[in-house]
Amino acid sequence: MRILVLGGDGYLGWPTAMHLSAQGHEIAVADNYLRRRLCREEQVDFLYEVPDLNERTALWQSVSGHHIAAHIGDLSQWDFVTEVFEKFSPQAVVHYAEQPAAPYSMLNRQAATLTLHNNLSVTANVIFAVREFCPDAHIVKLGTMGEYGTPNIDIEEGWLEVEHKGRKHTFLYPRQAGSLYHTTKIMDTDLLWFYVRTWGLRVTDLMQGPVYGIFTAETQHDERLLPFFSYDEIFGTVLNRFVVQAVVGHPLSVYGKGGQTRGYLNIKDTLNCVRLSLENPADRGELKIFNQFTEAFSVNDLAEKVREAGNQLKLNVKIEHIENPRIEAEAHYYNPIHTGLLDLGLKPHYLSKEVLLEMMEFVIQYKGLINKDQIRRNVKWN
Ligand SMILES: NC(=O)c1ccc[n+]([C@@H]2O[C@H](COP(=O)([O-])OP(=O)(O)OC[C@H]3O[C@@H](n4cnc5c(N)ncnc54)[C@H](O)[C@@H]3O)[C@@H](O)[C@H]2O)c1
Repeated sequence: MRILVLGGDGYLGWPTAMHLSAQGHEIAVADNYLRRRLCREEQVDFLYEVPDLNERTALWQSVSGHHIAAHIGDLSQWDFVTEVFEKFSPQAVVHYAEQPAAPYSMLNRQAATLTLHNNLSVTANVIFAVREFCPDAHIVKLGTMGEYGTPNIDIEEGWLEVEHKGRKHTFLYPRQAGSLYHTTKIMDTDLLWFYVRTWGLRVTDLMQGPVYGIFTAETQHDERLLPFFSYDEIFGTVLNRFVVQAVVGHPLSVYGKGGQTRGYLNIKDTLNCVRLSLENPADRGELKIFNQFTEAFSVNDLAEKVREAGNQLKLNVKIEHIENPRIEAEAHYYNPIHTGLLDLGLKPHYLSKEVLLEMMEFVIQYKGLINKDQIRRNVKWN
């Protein structure tokens, strides 16, 4: 299949591109390095240096023999989008290209506006480009479990049958996000659903939980193929941040009571979920939705697991409950259904002590480079 990976420089985009390329698909990636630019502007570094896309694709070709075409440009700009879609004519599009950080979206007005414009423009451009250049292509879009929020009822997989005054109808499951970033993901879902109904697009929307991890099968070839790894409070995901905090001797920063529960997954499972979605495309005029995570944990559970693993490495890990900068429930009901991807054949990589030890032993090599100042940035929701 010819698969276009949008956001192919990113934490998830680059490993996905390599994974699909290794499976024999023809891959092109597009990215404008927005994430790298925002990190520079906010003065937060990745844990280690990451080569640019031209260098990474050349390196990938040298170790695997597979070619990945790299297109550098802004997908919120229609001219660039038409150039890429016309040239590559994809059969499937994996859309990762968004500003993905909730704290960044809550930083100030400029960051909020950038997140809104960028995320919605890219999604709209993908929809228009598919309709114009490859109407039969399957769009696999990365959404987030955060779209649902934390309702006091079970979270179904995308849809909810509502019975009202004796009649029934199936609607998108109610969405109620906890940050502006997550709200843009809800708006993306609405846009996609509208154009699925109106233009008969094929779409799979993956409601993904926070991802952790560094290694995938393809990164074993060469460390320079590793995805970037953020440990700062703005862009880092919680488990990756806790691992770095443990290594550098910073108390694990649990917000408030720590009962906030979410569904998590290993980066290896992200790649498998996306591949399974591509192998089982939506029909014309169908929106498939999967809840993409493998295990639910509270923040306290994660901190406890990191403490145990860290103490096995004699890191003397401490946990600190700090004032919660976010507006969110710190203890709540949480029972999301997530059988769709398992039914397609997903074999989860669960969060074991071995997984944590492998991450910690890797991060320890970079201990001297960890900048403690970027661990707490205190981005407040109000
Ligand atoms: N990482 C997670 O835990 C997680 C969880 C749930 C959902 N997601 C979603 O998955 C996707 C990928 O997340 P990630 O962690 O890899 O983020 P990331 O920031 O590492 O990757 C996104 C990539 O898209 C690029 N991009 C953004 N806007 C662009 C534009 N206008 N033109 C071209 N390229 C653009 C960025 O430069 C970046 O390389 C995002 O949509 C995110 O919302 C991520």
